[in-house]
Amino acid sequence: MKTYICEICGDAYLGEERPSECPFCGSRQAFIKDGKVASPITLAPEELSEISKKNLEKTLELEIHANAVYLCMAEKTKTYEIKAMYKRLAKVELEHANIACKLMQSYLPQVGEGFCAEEDASNFAETIKLEENATALYVQFAREATEKNVKIFFTALSQVEADHIKLIKNYL
Ligand SMILES: [Fe+2]
Ligand SMILES: [Fe+2]
Repeated sequence: MKTYICEICGDAYLGEERPSECPFCGSRQAFIKDGKVASPITLAPEELSEISKKNLEKTLELEIHANAVYLCMAEKTKTYEIKAMYKRLAKVELEHANIACKLMQSYLPQVGEGFCAEEDASNFAETIKLEENATALYVQFAREATEKNVKIFFTALSQVEADHIKLIKNYL
């Protein structure tokens, strides 16, 4: 068994092989490195431009909202698989909120209550809408970032949220 470290969330994955995605933040394999050489983006805080500050604030708001909404969806579903999947998605989004806070050197705000529909079908449609919006914004935020680590963060996140769309489309 070995220690692998995700350079986006900084978490360690203990296992035989590098996972295809980070189990904690969902980042793709390219961001998961051997523990000896990994250099997480949150370790060296950068001076942030006004635009990146604004974009990270917006990200924090989106991720906290997604966390609360997905917990609601996990609560409503009658299928165990969907419940487990939404609980994991909620944790992944909260992890994204955490990373945004670390990059801003701020603290995670209180998470409010989320609202959602009773039926899975409506919740899947809403999830795809949220994830499509996030993906498009993060592509734009990555382009706007002049700081190396912020650019890497938004690039990784845009991929994770795009992967979430593919995940939900399996259930349609
Ligand atoms: Fe990660
Ligand atoms: Fe996210």
